[in-house]
Amino acid sequence: MQTILSIENLSKVYASGFHALTRISLDIHRGEIFALLGPNGAGKTTLISIVCGIVNASEGSVRVAGHDIVTDYRSARSLIGLVPQELTTDAFETVWATVSFSRGLFGKPASPAYVERVLRDLSLWEKRNNKIMTLSGGMKRRVLIAKALAHEPQILFLDEPTAGVDVELRRDMWALVRGLKANGVTIILTTHYIDEAEEMADRIGVINAGEIMLVERKDVLMRKLGRKQLTLQLEAPLTAIPAGLAAWGLELADGGTELIYTYDAENERNDIIALLKRLGEAGIGFTDLKTSQSSLEDIFVSLVSKDPAAASKPASRPASQPATPAGADNGKGQVTSR
Ligand SMILES: Nc1ncnc2c1ncn2[C@@H]1O[C@H](COP(=O)(O)OP(=O)(O)O)[C@@H](O)[C@H]1O
Ligand SMILES: [Mg+2]
Repeated sequence: MQTILSIENLSKVYASGFHALTRISLDIHRGEIFALLGPNGAGKTTLISIVCGIVNASEGSVRVAGHDIVTDYRSARSLIGLVPQELTTDAFETVWATVSFSRGLFGKPASPAYVERVLRDLSLWEKRNNKIMTLSGGMKRRVLIAKALAHEPQILFLDEPTAGVDVELRRDMWALVRGLKANGVTIILTTHYIDEAEEMADRIGVINAGEIMLVERKDVLMRKLGRKQLTLQLEAPLTAIPAGLAAWGLELADGGTELIYTYDAENERNDIIALLKRLGEAGIGFTDLKTSQSSLEDIFVSLVSKDPAAASKPASRPASQPATPAGADNGKGQVTSR
């Protein structure tokens, strides 16, 4: 796996004294879609702004395809396109002029054919001669994307690209992102929409209060999340798991009154039927039964929760372990993700 962006020990303390980022280290692989998830104020925009040279880091280093963003700024920056979170456009320019100009800024030779393709991909072609101030908010956002793509960047940052955009733009945006990925472009997007990360990303990073809490392949994360738990309230407490039930890897909880079975979502039906049958044969009765499942949302919530019991020192947890045992949701201290 080739690293295209390498962030090492990056910290940011704003002039106000506020610690926005604390020792962030992160490698982005060439050609991947990486989703940076985090609540408002987590530091996502600050991190992107540093990589793009808009904000200075207080400590640490960033290399883009080997080019240091401070000592080799031009080379580093020419490889990056940024679609900023806030709408900023040159109101009096036409769509065509502003996108062409963006390309020129990076020293790329004029290419009307390329600019035309970008504008067509973004359904902006009909509007190419319109002044930007005459466009709707959604169209302005499309212009920002066109500008970010004007110099054919290898890495595209999308900072909250779908916050407050209409369904059509959201759909077009994801089609575009998939097309860019197919052409080898690396995509880094920030979002606080978990479903979006779930749908689009190859890897997911969770950031909270300026710290990276977890970086994981999405499929690995989802496999873990696919884990479910069945909890049986026993009629009489057990002191040990009977030998005949060893195959299920059961656990006892609550002084032996609860029997917990953790399983993959895949084989659940047969497994559970067999387990219940075996329990009956062993004379183990239960009074109640409940199932629970952890979701990406649960993991995210537990990671960014202010409740130390729920978050349980996430920063020191190896990325290969789930944030909480499946279904261990204690219902406390939850924050919503959007
Ligand atoms: N120029 C600034 N000066 C002081 N604090 C700032 C500045 N910009 C951002 N912050 C603070 O840094 C934190 C992270 O902000 P930001 O990177 O925008 O988070 P996110 O994009 O994840 O919502 C927030 O608490 C924000 O208020
Ligand atoms: Mg932001």
